[in-house]
Amino acid sequence: MIVSTDALFKHAYKNYAVGAYNINNAEQIMGLFRGNMDSKAPFIVQLSKGARSYTDKRLLEAMIRAADEIFPDAVFAVHLDHGDEAACMDCIESGFYSSVMIDASGEEFDENIAITKRVVDAAHKKNVSVEAELGKLGGVEEHVSVDEADAKLTDPKQVQEFVERSGCDSLACAIGTSHGAYKFTGSQGLHFNVIEEIVKLLPGFPLVMHGSSSVPQDEVERINAAGGDLKGAKGVDEDQISKASKMGVTKVNIDTDGRLVWCRVHRELFLAKPDVFDLRPAGKIFMDEYAKYIMHKNEVLGSSGKLDDVRQAVQG
Ligand code: G3H
Ligand code: 13P
Ligand code: ZN
Repeated sequence: MIVSTDALFKHAYKNYAVGAYNINNAEQIMGLFRGNMDSKAPFIVQLSKGARSYTDKRLLEAMIRAADEIFPDAVFAVHLDHGDEAACMDCIESGFYSSVMIDASGEEFDENIAITKRVVDAAHKKNVSVEAELGKLGGVEEHVSVDEADAKLTDPKQVQEFVERSGCDSLACAIGTSHGAYKFTGSQGLHFNVIEEIVKLLPGFPLVMHGSSSVPQDEVERINAAGGDLKGAKGVDEDQISKASKMGVTKVNIDTDGRLVWCRVHRELFLAKPDVFDLRPAGKIFMDEYAKYIMHKNEVLGSSGKLDDVRQAVQG
């Protein structure tokens, strides 16, 4: 059942965080739905701009609709990840998305507000909610690459004005994470003082943490042992993710970890069985392994076992 992102946030706020998982293909969708069903967790399926054009947005959306039929007990929201204004408008018009993220964090404060407000005005007419971003995460995505030197933590002094003037429904904050597999060089972690300050200024308002992959070291080691070269890859400590999930960080975005599972499964299989060239054996292992990863992550977020309760809350 596709539900509103707001309903998921209302249920989760300060109790647990909802996992927002990026998907690109059928195998990820199957693994994602199975993992969430097996751990009885609500979740958010998110599609980036790159994912929507990887095959065709209609194919990806149709697969999500099909998964909704295959897993009738699933409770989830559909979200556009890192949209520009045009992508947001397209998703809002489509009627399929529960929420969109307008990422105008590269713009100056006033321009970020102006763009976000235009998206909010269009979205709210269609009951779509809007995530906006203030501050700038470092790291690499398909469409954006931000040097660590240009990354900027969210300034708590700006959050009230930003939310009030833009009308956004949730706020992606830069609190020390970055996108991709190389997040930290030393022992850095989340800036809990920044989270605390923002929560104090915006009580009850859902915060979003991007760049939340934990880059499991056993995955990295297995990938490297099977011919990969991911030296120094490092992610967010899972204890820190659990702590943030109880503080007001209500949506936790994860993409890179799923790619690592995919990479490990394929590297290991093709290294061990050089005669295999069929795509299905690897796909099957990936779906199982990704489902296991999702179950584990939902434990970390605290969303495991919340499904029946959320369904009741949503249905009233
Ligand atoms: O934060 C961005 C996501 O990891 C999406 O990445 O644009 O390569 O699909 P992508
Ligand atoms: P990771 O690169 O840490 O998985 O972050 C994903 C993300 O923020 C998607 O919006
Ligand atoms: Zn992101």
